[in-house]
Amino acid sequence: MTAGRDALLRVEGLRTSFFTPVGEVKAVGGVSFELRRGEVLGIVGESGSGKSVTMLSLLRLLGTSGRVVGGSIVFDGTELTEVPERRMADLRGRRISMIFQDPMTSLNPVLTIGYQLEEPLRRHGRGTAAERRQRVLEMLRRVGIEPAERRIVQYPHQFSGGQRQRIMIAMALMCYPDLLIADEPTTALDVTVQAQILDLMKELQGQFGTSIVLITHDLGVIAGMADRVLVMYGGRIVERGTRRDVFYAPAHPYTRGLLRSVPNPDELTKKRLIPIEGQPPDLLDPPSGCPYAARCPETMRVCMGYPPRRTSLSDSHSASCWLLARPGAEVGR
Ligand SMILES: Nc1ncnc2c1ncn2[C@@H]1O[C@H](COP(=O)(O)OP(=O)(O)O)[C@@H](O)[C@H]1O
Ligand SMILES: [Mg+2]
Repeated sequence: MTAGRDALLRVEGLRTSFFTPVGEVKAVGGVSFELRRGEVLGIVGESGSGKSVTMLSLLRLLGTSGRVVGGSIVFDGTELTEVPERRMADLRGRRISMIFQDPMTSLNPVLTIGYQLEEPLRRHGRGTAAERRQRVLEMLRRVGIEPAERRIVQYPHQFSGGQRQRIMIAMALMCYPDLLIADEPTTALDVTVQAQILDLMKELQGQFGTSIVLITHDLGVIAGMADRVLVMYGGRIVERGTRRDVFYAPAHPYTRGLLRSVPNPDELTKKRLIPIEGQPPDLLDPPSGCPYAARCPETMRVCMGYPPRRTSLSDSHSASCWLLARPGAEVGR
């Protein structure tokens, strides 16, 4: 892919492992992608495919056992794998924010919403107390929590699940970050509330020009939001393209499997959903060939022995599958 000058984030050959008592879990096994400014990039894949770990690597939030063991992460011209922890802490919440699946675990039950919303501003030394309060009220209104003056003194349990997720969005946007990482932001919510939250994210994204990485196992969520999509499996990106490429011309058997296993938002007729048989690969001992070979309905002998290289199908669309490899095809990592 061409490395555009407007890339906010460029990840090259990222490898992340967890060093556990039973061995090295190779959670991310060589991932490369870029994110342009103002873009919404979707990352999809089943649970355990390495979506969260890829983005947590960026923020260096891997706990004590996790470590980036290879590759490069350039954010707005800065190599993040080399910046000292103090600088990383400054970037987190100010320039890069993350929203997690379960707002209840991210919100402190004994502190008021107002206090918690103000926290990123206090931490990064923004404004006077009065200015910070104004900003909290403004953000609460923008995410539809009213009357803001009354609600800032309330505690997390006094809000519904959907409202708590709105509060998390407000908190994440408090410092006008360049990048918002939303990790399964609506998974815990019912479908109607889910749609409202996604609409809100899209609206604020348009207003603030924030780039978003939206992680989900639900292709329906991506369908309404993402400009481009990465499909992850077994710690690698197996396919990438525009939303249109991936939904209308899926090239990797795994992507096709995923599409068959979820309701198609474009189809009124309810087709039968077909789950993908089998289990994701063991990342303690990752397969030497294609990570999907053991489950793929179209496996060939070569798939077991050698990792497929990336084949470009168009300027925007590529996939790593031996079925696509043909003499003369343009291949990359
Ligand atoms: N703290 C950890 N220790 C050991 N393995 C982990 C840890 N966190 C994640 N993993 C492993 O890394 C792999 C990728 O996980 P993750 O990125 O959370 O998947 P996803 O977000 O796609 O569901 C999984 O196999 C998971 O078990
Ligand atoms: Mg995850």
